[in-house]
Amino acid sequence: MNQPNYFLRVVAFVSILFSAVWASPPTPVSVAKRAVCTPASAGNAGTDDVPAIQAAFKSCGNGGTIVIPAGKTYAIRSTLSFAGCVNCDFQVEGTLKMSEDLTFWNGKQAVILISGVTGARMRSVTGTGLVDGNGVPYWIQFAADSSYRRPTLVYITGSSAITISSLRFKNPANVFHSVTGGSSNVVYDSLRMDATSTANATAKNTDGFDIGTSSHVTVRNTMVTNQDDCVALKAGSNFALVSNITCDGSHGLSVGSLGGGAGSKDSVTNAFLGPAVMKNSAKAVGIKLYEGGSSHGVATVSNVTWSGITVQNCDYAIQIQSCYSAADTTNCVSNTDSLTGVTFTGFTGTTSTKFSPVVANLNCAPSSTCNVVVNGFSVKPPSGTASVLCSNIDGSLGLSCSGKASG
Ligand SMILES: *[C@@H]1O[C@H](CO)[C@@H](O)[C@H](O)[C@H]1NC(C)=O
Ligand SMILES: *[C@@H]1O[C@H](CO)[C@@H](O)[C@H](O)[C@H]1NC(C)=O
Ligand SMILES: *[C@@H]1O[C@H](CO)[C@@H](O)[C@H](O)[C@H]1NC(C)=O
Repeated sequence: MNQPNYFLRVVAFVSILFSAVWASPPTPVSVAKRAVCTPASAGNAGTDDVPAIQAAFKSCGNGGTIVIPAGKTYAIRSTLSFAGCVNCDFQVEGTLKMSEDLTFWNGKQAVILISGVTGARMRSVTGTGLVDGNGVPYWIQFAADSSYRRPTLVYITGSSAITISSLRFKNPANVFHSVTGGSSNVVYDSLRMDATSTANATAKNTDGFDIGTSSHVTVRNTMVTNQDDCVALKAGSNFALVSNITCDGSHGLSVGSLGGGAGSKDSVTNAFLGPAVMKNSAKAVGIKLYEGGSSHGVATVSNVTWSGITVQNCDYAIQIQSCYSAADTTNCVSNTDSLTGVTFTGFTGTTSTKFSPVVANLNCAPSSTCNVVVNGFSVKPPSGTASVLCSNIDGSLGLSCSGKASG
């Protein structure tokens, strides 16, 4: 059960003395220290520790601290919600481990849910904290049955002033972090995230950060090893900032996919991404838009900059796809997609052999607006002279193109 440490509650009295003229009795002002709750773990993987943690949020969530002590593993057998947290501080020094329970988790939205919360920290003070998504059995299940619906590891919706820092997250069943539902002022800082495939299970859809309808979401000082987007800016993302990130094995720092739904109007605006080190990615950075037509929608990408990108063994340094899902990806309609103020600046490094000597493939659709600029670009293929493919760019790209793009 949950044990509030009342002995840590300190009350200080401050006397305020008035001048002789206004002489009155001293006024005591009490300053209560944060309440601290340390929920107990049952200590076995078969017993859900979430009710105890939830009780701690109830007792200490209003401005207090909830501690998961170092050296202990807490079984997460049901969704752990931050309900009851108002400016709370969730300190994870031990391990939170998602259960292996394929029946229970099928169709659940999140393992950890931060919904409608104003003010929360989730962090490790000592740096030992781990959130283990126990993904292997879920990847195996999904490979066998693609209708199996795996939860996101940490899902933030309709929340503001949230900071998640100095933690390690490993092997999520699905996406690591999602933020959406009009959330604002969310910071992910100093995280280490890794999804590692095993001999019999390939990690699947392990996006690092999916940033949807939100404003002022920041990701910084973070290392991600995964198999899907490292960061994906999705529809409704505004003022996202990604800085000092290292991504290994991913699909890169991406905008999209956008315009997938029939009649959808998806936009990503005012984002800045970099500096970043991108290793072994399908693309270091890029934009992915569905083709047009009645079964898809319109995409708007405006004022988005990638800056200071180091490319190491990525298939493309930059890839723009505007014909995603089209039968002919060299010449599709776009439902008047619009790319304006899209800038790629300060790119260095070397691509992989996959498309060598092509280092970038920038495909805008014929009917779209495509104001894209590249400058300070010195990425090279492993051998030979770099070439760039591009189609339907408006104005001056800043690179010379040697052929028609696709994708
Ligand atoms: C394959 O995955 C299952 C389920 O997680 C695991 O128990 C088993 O040890 C794995 N086998 C190998 C050879 O990795
Ligand atoms: C960048 O992030 C790494 C962790 O991935 C950290 O060690 C380093 O100090 C950060 N650099 C700066 C300038 O903050
Ligand atoms: C473009 O986005 C950046 C943030 O990435 C922001 O600082 C700047 O104000 C935006 N520019 C306009 C014209 O909105």
